[in-house]
Amino acid sequence: MDLVNNRKILLREHPAAEPDDSCFEIVTDRVPRVGPGQAVVRVRYLSVDPAQRIWMNPGGAYGFEATPGLPMLSLGVGEVVDSRNPRYPLGAWVGGKLCWQQYAVLTEADETWVLPEEADPVLSLGVLGMNGQTAYWGLFDIGKPVPGETVLISAAAGATGSLAGQLARIAGCRVVGLAGTAAKRDWLLELGFDAALDYRSPDLAKLLDEACPDGVNVFFDNTGGPALDLALTRLALGGRVVLCGAIASYNDNGKPVGPAAYRMLIRQRGVMQGFIVMDYADRYGEALTKLVGWVADGSLKHREDVVHGLDNAPEALRRVLRGDNEGKMVVAL
Ligand SMILES: NC(=O)c1ccc[n+]([C@@H]2O[C@H](COP(=O)([O-])OP(=O)(O)OC[C@H]3O[C@@H](n4cnc5c(N)ncnc54)[C@H](OP(=O)(O)O)[C@@H]3O)[C@@H](O)[C@H]2O)c1
Repeated sequence: MDLVNNRKILLREHPAAEPDDSCFEIVTDRVPRVGPGQAVVRVRYLSVDPAQRIWMNPGGAYGFEATPGLPMLSLGVGEVVDSRNPRYPLGAWVGGKLCWQQYAVLTEADETWVLPEEADPVLSLGVLGMNGQTAYWGLFDIGKPVPGETVLISAAAGATGSLAGQLARIAGCRVVGLAGTAAKRDWLLELGFDAALDYRSPDLAKLLDEACPDGVNVFFDNTGGPALDLALTRLALGGRVVLCGAIASYNDNGKPVGPAAYRMLIRQRGVMQGFIVMDYADRYGEALTKLVGWVADGSLKHREDVVHGLDNAPEALRRVLRGDNEGKMVVAL
């Protein structure tokens, strides 16, 4: 392959709050010639994930760490354009930690996955990738929904929440979603949610009581913060709280505030359990078969919010952290 320029966005420093442009630096260097066992991937789509914000903190989070001076850590997919590794044939699509850059050099040590030929690269980052897997395992393995139960979802119109809610409908549950805009709440009703509530409403407690008259059997929590506290106070006997994410505090580097209403777990014999989707890596195939089937028969709808251009990656991340995304946020390069 001819030597080509490689535009990159480096993390410059650990952000104190929302990561503004001063946290990043755009540089251009050359794609090196591939050595034995290496391959060069032309990055095509970057996954924009709330967790990237906490990967930027000193020490990172959940085994992922964005390091100042290096391209900002990001999952992504791209095409192999040069290779001296039989695992990565020319033209194959590969996913992995490709980072905010136009070209990624993969080595034997990189954890990657090769997409099947028929896979849609964008969907492989969302409904048929990390978000689908997260919704599936969090809901079914930890939430353990029973038909007729009430499932409450926070950040319900997001990439993960919208899928978790629809899976709960497929499981025969009543589903109530919390979302930040009227347009998102309308979409949740179109998806078949039984109710969609504004989590910023001063009347949220009353609205929740109306929507969940028998309490909350499963709370699939993507946000933490006030929603978690309120949901705990409405937990039904034997309720399960699935701790998927805590986006309400990701921009806050201070000591996180825990749920004040945790004693409801005692009273209601409840369970609150966190998980990381990678815990289920050896069972992804099991979930993928089901997710592909539900997407194909129309029972699982998905939305992608695609922005174009590497330079827009920082703003795409800020949009997710502010709730300005409509579905799975992806940057197309
Ligand atoms: N455990 C795991 O393995 C795993 C894997 C993937 C994702 N996650 C977690 O799942 C959650 C959702 O991730 P996603 O990728 O699907 O993103 P997403 O839901 O598509 O986007 C994040 C959404 O969070 C909401 N939000 C932002 N700030 C908020 C705040 N202060 N309070 C309440 N809601 C807020 C916004 O929706 P509104 O407009 O409704 O506010 C925003 O659209 C995140 O917490 C993420 O870390 C966990």
